[in-house]
Amino acid sequence: MTINGVDLLVRRDDPRVCEVREVTVDEPRDGQAVLRIQRFAVTANNVTYATAGDVLGYWKFFPVDSTWGRVPAWGFAEVVASRSELLDEGDRLYGFWPMSSHATIEPTGRKGSRLIDATAHRVPLPPLYNAYLPAGAEDSRREELESLLRPLFGTAWLIADSLAQEGFHNAASVLLSSASSKTAAATAWCLAQYEHRPQIVGLTSVRNREFVERLPGYDETVTYDDLTTASIATPVVFVDVAGSAAVRESVHRHCESDLAFSLIVGSTHWENPGGWSGSADLPGPTPQMFFAPSQGVKRAEELGRGEFVRLVSTAQTEYTEVYGKSTEVRLATTPDMVVQAWIDQVNGNTDASTGIVATLSG
Ligand SMILES: NC(=O)c1ccc[n+]([C@@H]2O[C@H](COP(=O)([O-])OP(=O)(O)OC[C@H]3O[C@@H](n4cnc5c(N)ncnc54)[C@H](OP(=O)(O)O)[C@@H]3O)[C@@H](O)[C@H]2O)c1
Repeated sequence: MTINGVDLLVRRDDPRVCEVREVTVDEPRDGQAVLRIQRFAVTANNVTYATAGDVLGYWKFFPVDSTWGRVPAWGFAEVVASRSELLDEGDRLYGFWPMSSHATIEPTGRKGSRLIDATAHRVPLPPLYNAYLPAGAEDSRREELESLLRPLFGTAWLIADSLAQEGFHNAASVLLSSASSKTAAATAWCLAQYEHRPQIVGLTSVRNREFVERLPGYDETVTYDDLTTASIATPVVFVDVAGSAAVRESVHRHCESDLAFSLIVGSTHWENPGGWSGSADLPGPTPQMFFAPSQGVKRAEELGRGEFVRLVSTAQTEYTEVYGKSTEVRLATTPDMVVQAWIDQVNGNTDASTGIVATLSG
């Protein structure tokens, strides 16, 4: 049986350059299964996977060559051919896929439960990304929201939890940049659940100000332009969500010694990259990099995996209700629409109240 498919290829040195290429998907070998990727989310987080593809290894998951890469994305897929005893045709999984129509995995684990892809080149990569969860019967609306939110909510919960563990660094405010992003909004909501917590301030662009003001979680909203005149209670913890060097510098210069802690979460701003550390002459504390997969492993060990999963999923279920009300899902169902969605995301031409869910197997 021959399966014809397509890949969205992105240039590793310039995320604006991309093309959809037709491919023939190999039949599964012993132990493998081929899945049709039914839906995946396209958010700023995927842009970080591309911009940090070499530094953090994201090009290694679904390798192409030294020029082109397949950007990973979170979503749902269905088995269309299997020579694995753990997966039957029609089984469905949630997990980390390439932006493609199909993917091949070599699952290990127990039939019907969490599976791990043991394809040789993936074994050394962070385990969180190699895990696939059984998805059950298809439910489009729930799966669209879950594709958009699940990986980002986990990060948000971990950021809030890590700050709480440190007593919020005795700060009077937590300032979150890219406040309109799903990760920042969910972090604000998680922080707001703590009884004794600092003020939560969202830092955003003028165009997204009203959207941020409507989000639950933030006590105040400040635009990038107003940062230097805004009165923000000190000391301040800064959570740099999308990694703009200019924003990071203006926060550090404005707060100076009133900055208690500075955390870098993302690196989406490829046009003005802040990197994963502070420049030598940045006033205030040296920014620390936040990497959710490592923090997740640490907290699962400390809390016990069962309790950790219970805490995150209980909070996520509650937040998904909230998120569903503030977000409209937009579907990208043709290759041209998926290319446009990717380029818009890379260029920051997105509407914060819209979440893009794509398919290349339509
Ligand atoms: N460290 C980790 O483990 C980890 C895990 C998950 C996510 N993250 C990071 O969290 C960040 C947010 O991801 P998300 O998926 O939640 O984002 P999203 O919902 O797609 O966020 C969109 C918002 O981010 C800002 N933005 C994004 N790209 C931009 C660009 N090119 N130019 C200007 N503004 C841009 C804008 O916010 P404003 O107008 O409010 O500035 C925009 O409204 C990403 O950088 C991602 O990598 C990190």
